[in-house]
This record gives sequence, structure tokens and C-alpha cells, in this order.
Amino acid sequence: MNMPSNVQKLIDKVLEENPMHRRILTAALEKLTTEEFRLLDSYLSFWLEKGLTVDYLAEAYNTHTVSTVREQSYFQKHGKYRYSSFAEVADEVYFNNEFMSLYMYGLAIATFFWANHIEMLRFFRETIPRDRKGSYLEIGPGHGYYIAAAMNDCAFDSYLGIDISETSIEQTRQLVEHYRKGRPSVAFSLQQMDFLETPLNDKRFDAVFMGEVLEHVEQPGLFMREIRRVAKDDAYIHVSTCINAAVIDHIYLFNDTKEIENLFDDCGLKIKRELILPYAGMTIEETMEKRLPVSVSYVLEKN
Ligand SMILES: C[S@@+](CC[C@H](N)C(=O)[O-])C[C@H]1O[C@@H](n2cnc3c(N)ncnc32)[C@H](O)[C@@H]1O
Repeated sequence: MNMPSNVQKLIDKVLEENPMHRRILTAALEKLTTEEFRLLDSYLSFWLEKGLTVDYLAEAYNTHTVSTVREQSYFQKHGKYRYSSFAEVADEVYFNNEFMSLYMYGLAIATFFWANHIEMLRFFRETIPRDRKGSYLEIGPGHGYYIAAAMNDCAFDSYLGIDISETSIEQTRQLVEHYRKGRPSVAFSLQQMDFLETPLNDKRFDAVFMGEVLEHVEQPGLFMREIRRVAKDDAYIHVSTCINAAVIDHIYLFNDTKEIENLFDDCGLKIKRELILPYAGMTIEETMEKRLPVSVSYVLEKN
């Protein structure tokens, strides 16, 4: 396969700056489809045309990767994440535009460059209903790639994203406006707010997606209960999170899948489908024994 040129330039720069990453990255890239390379190239082209540089995007990805390795070794040593409250990370992360920009571009690229993350994107695109009309809600869109993909793949009439970070809202806005160019009639709005404080009142949604937010909050149960409340009875509900996976702003530690299953159960939600992804190259048993990261995604329904 001919590697799309922007992806190739990014890989070259990433490895020039972080040669130790070659083995992991090469293994992950071997699993990407031609279509996924094309999607990543299109994402990169958009931001390059907006004025970002390959050097900056490589720095974003490497910063995220290196910081994750550092936090994971803290976790391995202490058996807990470095921080456990929102107040400890809010100013450094969510409300720090420079840091948050790098972090969100890095995370979007990791969606393609990390083997487990591309599996999660595939699971999302495979399970989300394509023909359903009505309203789509996304909590914590961050870099905006998932809400843009939903808009591209699905037939919902309206899309709403809620994120606490102004930087995330702005990245999402720009990306979605680009992807929806061909469909100006589709309603799209964003709100910069804490999901728990957003006045959704009696609004009910046909689809609710929350990707990798649950581990960023102090009380995941409040989020799951609010998701259940705002979802229609037959809504598509999709939540992804992680176990033993340290990142600077992960403040809620799930130790195993049982804790997550109990949480859903307590909040009146039943698992319809699940994706449990052990650390690349290991079984789930080995991963759990070594307390290495597990990524998980669930399609849920109301009990
Ligand atoms: C790790 S990013 C997830 C990005 C994307 N959903 C994904 O799956 O890759 C987490 C996002 O959740 C947002 N977030 C964290 N706490 C939130 C809250 N209480 N309400 C709304 N958004 C929140 C952060 O600002 C950030 O943009």
C-alpha cells in the first residue's frame, strides 16, 4: 500500500523525535486498513491546511505518549493514579489551552496509532445505528473525531456536544464544521459546560456517546445516572473507559471489569455488547495480573 503522504511525514517526524516508539508504532500500523490510513490523512490534512505543522502534530502525539508512559510507571509503583480530584488537574489540563491543544491533537492521532484505540473507533462505527433519525448527544468530544465520524456515518437530525474545556469545544467545532460541509441542514451545537451542570431538563436523546470521560470524573455514578435520564428508552448508549490506565488527568481508577459492570447495574443500565481490550500482545489474564492498561467499550440499554 502507498502510505498517504501526510501520514508518512507524521510517522517520520514522530520516530525521529522518539525512536524508541518504532516497534509499538510499526505493530499498530500493520493493523490499520487502507480506509483508516485515508481517514487519518484527511484528519491531518485538515489541520495542516488550517496552519498547524507536521512538527507540531508529532510533538502533540509524542508528548501524549511520553506522558502516558510516565504516568503508567507512577501507577505501577504506587498502585494508584497520581491525582484523584478534579481540582488537582483542572487548571493544568482542561483550562490550560496550550497543554490541552497538544493533548487533544495527540489523543486524536493515538486513536489511529494505538492498537486498542483504533479497535474502539471501529466498535463505535460498527455499532452506532446508521439509519436512525433524531438526536445525538456526545459528552466530552475532546478532539472532536468521534462526533465528526458520527455525523459522517449516521442520519441523526441533530448533534450536540458538551465539554467542560474551551479548547476541546473549539477543536471539535472546527473539525465538525469541516466534515459537515456537505450537509449544512444537519443541526449541530456545542456547549462548554460540566455535563452534570448542563440544563438538559426534559430533552431526550436517541443516541448518547461518552468516550473516555468516566475515568476523568470523581463520581462516575452521577454521570451514568444522568446519561440514563437523558437517553430515550430505546436509545443507543455507548460508553468507553479504561482499567489500570494512567494518564495525567485520569482521576477515577477502575481496578477490573466487575467494578464497571456493577456501576452500570447500580445505575439501571444493562450491557448489550462489550469490547474488552487487553494490553497489546498479552492476554487479558496477563494484563490484569501485571495491572497493565485495559481499554473497554460498552453498548448499553436501560433496564
Ligand atoms: C480524554 S478526552 C476524550 C475525547 C474523546 N471523547 C475520545 O474518546 O477520544 C476527555 C474529554 O472530556 C472532557 N470532560 C472532562 N470532564 C468533563 C465534564 N465533567 N463534563 C464535560 N466534559 C468533560 C474533557 O474536557 C475532554 O475534552
